[in-house]
Amino acid sequence: MTAARTQPAPAGPAVDVRDVSRTFRLGSTEVHAVRHASLEVTRGEFLAIVGRSGSGKTTLLNIIAGLDQPDSGQVFLEGHEISRYGDRELTELRRHTVGFVFQSFGLLPLLSAAENVELALRIAGAGVRERGERTRELLELVGLTPRSNHRPYELSGGEQQRVAVARALANSPKIVIADEPTGELDSTTGAQIFQLLREVSAQGVTVITATHDPFVIEHVDRVLEMSDGEMLPEGQGVVVAQSGRARSGPAARERAQTSPPGSPARP
Ligand SMILES: Nc1ncnc2c1ncn2[C@@H]1O[C@H](COP(=O)(O)OP(=O)(O)OP(=O)(O)O)[C@@H](O)[C@H]1O
Ligand SMILES: [Mg+2]
Repeated sequence: MTAARTQPAPAGPAVDVRDVSRTFRLGSTEVHAVRHASLEVTRGEFLAIVGRSGSGKTTLLNIIAGLDQPDSGQVFLEGHEISRYGDRELTELRRHTVGFVFQSFGLLPLLSAAENVELALRIAGAGVRERGERTRELLELVGLTPRSNHRPYELSGGEQQRVAVARALANSPKIVIADEPTGELDSTTGAQIFQLLREVSAQGVTVITATHDPFVIEHVDRVLEMSDGEMLPEGQGVVVAQSGRARSGPAARERAQTSPPGSPARP
């Protein structure tokens, strides 16, 4: 739809966060929500950011999605430095490059499932015919064609989140940011939403999610932990240590690969 999307993807990471800090000031109190955080995410990677409540996950995701700006540091999406963007460029970024999925779905209550998806396309300037076709395609993708005309209150939580995923994908974003997308769902429904995001990342879309969900932590490509606003080195952190990743993460897989055939992987 946009010229940018038809150009070849630039070399380098899809997301490059360099030494980003964000402080909130409430009266005389300062909250250092994100402190000197850095990370790189490769194209098509599915990354989970974990950490205790208040550790800065949402703040960092909002900065990566262009919903908020850092006080210092740089953020590059697909090679473009969005931390230098003004309001107009940030609006364009949110319309065309990034899709956002919220914990509480964030659908407009008076619009049907199809209208919620179509609105994202309308805002991005797609024509009537394209909007209709793409909306049908997206609802098919998330398995909600029979619910197209239902309003959010006529849908289950999992179905609402599927509409939200369809909406986030409406403008073929290169990056999807999902802040606790399974947080309000039961484990089976949460696993289905995870699977949907997994398929999105398999198509080459970079997916970054903040999560407390053990299933998601176990099955993403990589997990990074935040603690007190800081991004810990890969493999470190209490949530990572408590999860199965400590046993089945990249280091464990490497050990398994270097073991001679037939020998059991060391614990
Ligand atoms: N707009 C704001 N104004 C002031 N303080 C804020 C604001 N947003 C977040 N904070 C504070 O910044 C810190 C980080 O919050 P953030 O929402 O990023 O945490 P989180 O890791 O997403 O937590 P959770 O797992 O509970 O969602 C918290 O101490 C929070 O109270
Ligand atoms: Mg949060």
